[in-house]
Amino acid sequence: MTKPSAAARRVVQLRSAGVALILDLRSTALPTVVHWGADPGPCGQDELDAMAAAAVPPHVDNLIDVPVSHSVLPEGHTGWFGIPGLSGSRQGKAWAPRFTVNTAVQEGQRLTVEAADPSTALGLRLTIELTGSGLVRLRTAVRNDGDDDYRVDAVSTVLPVPERAGELLDLAGRWSRERQPQRGPFNMGVHLREGRRGRTGADAATMVVAGVEGFGFRSGEVWAVHTAWSGNHRTWAERTGEGFRTLGGGESLLPGEIVLRPGESYDPPELFFGWADGLDELASRFHRHLRARPHHPGSPRPVNLNVWEAVYFDHDLDTLLALAERGAAIGVERFVLDDGWFHRRNGPDRGLGDWFVDEQSWPDGLHPLVERVKELGMTFGLWVEPEMVSPRSQLAVAHADWIMRARPQLPPASRWQQVLDLANPEAFDHVLARLSAVIAEYGVGYLKWDHNRDLIEAPGVHRQTLAAYRLMDELRAAFPGLEIESCSSGGARVDLGILEHTDRVWASDCIDPLERQTIQRWTSQLIPLELIGGHVASAVSHTTGRRHDLAFRAITSLFAHFGLELDLTKLDDAETAELAGWIEIYKRYRGLLHSGTLVRDEYPSSGRWLTGVVRPELALYSVAALRRSDEEPAGRITFPGLDPARRYTVRLVGPNRDDLGNRPGWLDSPARFGGATLGTVGVRLPALRPETAMLIEISALPDTAP
Ligand code: DGJ
Repeated sequence: MTKPSAAARRVVQLRSAGVALILDLRSTALPTVVHWGADPGPCGQDELDAMAAAAVPPHVDNLIDVPVSHSVLPEGHTGWFGIPGLSGSRQGKAWAPRFTVNTAVQEGQRLTVEAADPSTALGLRLTIELTGSGLVRLRTAVRNDGDDDYRVDAVSTVLPVPERAGELLDLAGRWSRERQPQRGPFNMGVHLREGRRGRTGADAATMVVAGVEGFGFRSGEVWAVHTAWSGNHRTWAERTGEGFRTLGGGESLLPGEIVLRPGESYDPPELFFGWADGLDELASRFHRHLRARPHHPGSPRPVNLNVWEAVYFDHDLDTLLALAERGAAIGVERFVLDDGWFHRRNGPDRGLGDWFVDEQSWPDGLHPLVERVKELGMTFGLWVEPEMVSPRSQLAVAHADWIMRARPQLPPASRWQQVLDLANPEAFDHVLARLSAVIAEYGVGYLKWDHNRDLIEAPGVHRQTLAAYRLMDELRAAFPGLEIESCSSGGARVDLGILEHTDRVWASDCIDPLERQTIQRWTSQLIPLELIGGHVASAVSHTTGRRHDLAFRAITSLFAHFGLELDLTKLDDAETAELAGWIEIYKRYRGLLHSGTLVRDEYPSSGRWLTGVVRPELALYSVAALRRSDEEPAGRITFPGLDPARRYTVRLVGPNRDDLGNRPGWLDSPARFGGATLGTVGVRLPALRPETAMLIEISALPDTAP
């Protein structure tokens, strides 16, 4: 245990994993950031003082007459005209806080600042921590110390980035096309990504990155912010004429959503900020952070068979048993029964809320299926959508008042469903009891937890989000070992808030491997591969109609938590054997894929993308051709991330790789390369047809370990 030390009235340096955060606490004002970025090494107090003094902007015409510096929670009295740190009031008064730090305590790489403002009667706690992987984790709590109510409209915290951060990157998208990158200059004003859908959103920014011009996967300084929250939220980059560039975030509150009674506190979502040299290093900081959580899945990620695209709502026991038999025979380890199993749920417009096994489709309950699944050596997973209700369900008829609404009329249905108000304790207890009964009866080990609509005019997104988190936690506490997958119309609930309560995310309803190359590539900017569901689907994609060979589908899914989602009874013997081969490959490499370092690169003129997972002794790369190349043959590919001091062998991996054209001779010779050669000189690979991929193993020769 590190001993706490008083940090007030000095400059504090937090250091971790090559990152430093230097905070100025010399006055009684809230901490201002002297530096966030590369670690200059341990600095003595004299140097820190000098650094802080040298960071104060000079006075220029038409600015306020005192030096302008802004804290992580910017306040108007410092001459800040950007997004305010705290917006709120007591009936239109007490809206301009001026906090004074009472105590600041440093414990290891964590600084806790307690501040108060008598003029607004508010208390504030800031917890600023540099995690083991070098991320800044920023937590805030606002307390009402007054005698009357204080209405919070927004709490916004920020970190500054330097002038050389001239470009922005964030993600955008829509249903079945989540997390598409968008890039542009860091212009004056606010680049605001706000989600007001009552969930994270298929269009969520995921993170906002500012970087030096031209930054890429492998190099270029980048600074990023992520808002760890699954409800309404804001994440932004702001640039002002006074030379301030900041990244910030917070919850997007509905009017009156947070009204603090005397003595009450509001804890906004945590923010995570990352600095790195290149997007890969940035991703690796998030991955290492997630992997260090005590509840991070520690067991090998099982091969899932999800039956959604095989049967949809058509739950026929014989068909499902046949799928289970075929799946087990080729190596499936977890069988997931998707939507359609509960009361009258033979279509998307009914049944939600009635969490009883449907007696018509399942006269003997789920037992015949679950027993066979377990006899075959697989665990059993089940789809649920606990936050939703179908208007014609028994639940909705009996408890119409449990449906969320802002006025007597219901909001428009979406996917024919409404939202259950889980902040209502009766509704919460009912759902908890029903889900618990089903989990207990069938020994369910895995829930695919869906959430298939935006919340429209929902009067309490904040409390609904917390209630959903609590429901997950109560189930996990009652059923130790229960895993939960966060699904939301595919990939609309992907954030670090939900991952505190779940064990993987479903990246998208689109399982077309061409689309998945982009979706998974950018989902993995935040989340390590073992937490991203990726399934091998039918040859013809159900969402796009494109046809792809099995190798492309399987190789794309390998760079995720691998699973299947297709009708196995429709495969011929050759396809079944090939699929079994890919499952074997996944099992062989999952230890590496789910613990190694992610590397990415791209070759714009040949349309090829490289994705790899690397450890010093072993690496697995996929090279995918996303389109036809401008040049043929395409140039050499280099393999980043290898140990330059070791020697390696390179080989193609796959159950059936004779189909690759123009196989260069060197691949069949016992060629050996230094890690530095592979990383800088590169090799020629077989030609790839558009929308195909190859898998490459690079393993170190044992005698070359340093
Ligand atoms: C949306 C999910 O993303 C799908 O995988 C599937 O579970 C359906 N919902 C079921 O309704």
